[in-house]
Amino acid sequence: METKLRMVVTAGPTREHLDPVRFLSNPSTGRMGFAVARAAAEAGYEVVLVAGPVGLKTPKGVVRVDVVSAREMFAAVEAAKADILVATAAVADWRPKSCAKKKLKKGEMSGVLELVRNPDILKSSKVRRKIGFAAETGEAVAEAVRKCKEKNLEFCVANDVTAPGAGFGVATNRVVFVYPDGTAKRLPLLSKLAVARRIVAALQRGRSRK
Ligand code: CTP
Repeated sequence: METKLRMVVTAGPTREHLDPVRFLSNPSTGRMGFAVARAAAEAGYEVVLVAGPVGLKTPKGVVRVDVVSAREMFAAVEAAKADILVATAAVADWRPKSCAKKKLKKGEMSGVLELVRNPDILKSSKVRRKIGFAAETGEAVAEAVRKCKEKNLEFCVANDVTAPGAGFGVATNRVVFVYPDGTAKRLPLLSKLAVARRIVAALQRGRSRK
């Protein structure tokens, strides 16, 4: 590679606070995204890893930006000015309407939590080449085709998180590469690093770059 292409990878969950000690989130550990960042750095890309709160070591040769909320993640992705965006993060689609400065006492909470939509980072990003993930509990391929079209993706990595060996916190994944025209390439059960290397290889082949 003559000039290094810059890739931004989002990873992990986001946290959407309602006060300093409470938040909405999900069980994403960031392993898939960290594996993509590592595989891309090893393949010669300049990598910016935008990570939600996770307990993982930064891969060698990767610049890491830690964020908490979806809005912070969006700002960090925009600031990275990448050529390629690989969005593996489990971004919270909604956040509490307001965040109290001090811990809320139970008497101060009504029992109803008002939520507002977060930005869709992948959909809004103007990065030219975008790869997304679709972690589903069924209909993964159909959902991935929809996401390819809606978010203008080069391809989408679909997985059924309820399948054996796939899902949050495990070292393996069973994925399908899904393209906007509906083509689907099913991969066997692989380590997350092996899946990451396949993603980088698919990107390098640049199947639908034009
Ligand atoms: N994504 C994102 N910003 C969001 C939501 C999702 O960047 N606010 C990205 C994810 O990182 C993933 C892709 O979009 O690469 C699909 O995310 P997913 O949560 O599966 O889908 P949603 O767009 O939230 O759609 P739905 O709730 O209809 O499944």
